[in-house]
Amino acid sequence: MRIDIITVSPELIKSPFEHSIIKRGIDKKLVDVHFHDLRTYALNDYGKIDDYQFGGGAGMVLMIEPIDKCIAALTSQRTYDEIIYLTPDGETLNQQTANQLSLQKNILLLCGHYKGVDQRVRDLFITREISIGDYVLSGGELGAAVLCDSIIRLIPGVIGDETSALTDSFQDHLLSPPVYTRPAKYKGAEVPEILLSGNFPKIEEWRATQALQRTKKIRPDLLEE
Ligand code: ADE
Repeated sequence: MRIDIITVSPELIKSPFEHSIIKRGIDKKLVDVHFHDLRTYALNDYGKIDDYQFGGGAGMVLMIEPIDKCIAALTSQRTYDEIIYLTPDGETLNQQTANQLSLQKNILLLCGHYKGVDQRVRDLFITREISIGDYVLSGGELGAAVLCDSIIRLIPGVIGDETSALTDSFQDHLLSPPVYTRPAKYKGAEVPEILLSGNFPKIEEWRATQALQRTKKIRPDLLEE
């Protein structure tokens, strides 16, 4: 899989790709991530990429021309399955979306900044708009990093234990059951006895019950889906 990311702040977004599971996916060549600085396509030598909004109002807007040029340069080299704009007014990211996107070959992400992008960018080039939650970030970069993490960890081979990503919270509309490790007793706090029993069918049953109870208590909305 290949992911291209258009940003006005490449340094802001690079770090999550240099650590842990995402880095492993890149090192194993299971995913190829490329960052594109929008300023490379600026309108002048001062790096102009944004302007005041028509009709007045606070905040700068990313202009269509640099974005058009950047997208055109990328789409001339390959076809993208999705061109995604990260924005607080997009569809909210969930596990199902991450699952779908993890099956794609090429995706292109556009990070918004300031007041956003000229609406014509969204109308003409974008195939999908994604928000990572109902709050406003300073730009789309952190949202893009979150989206990429949720996708990349699902690519077969990225996580060592193949079953591990499939038993994550949300994969089956349930939160995960609690987990414990050594020591079995810490300052009087004990691990549930069933987990030490070696009775694996019973352990699975316990985990399923715990997952259901947790979901009912914390996220009952998931059970309604
Ligand atoms: N850009 C600003 N806020 C965002 C959000 N909540 N999700 C995705 N991109 C954003």
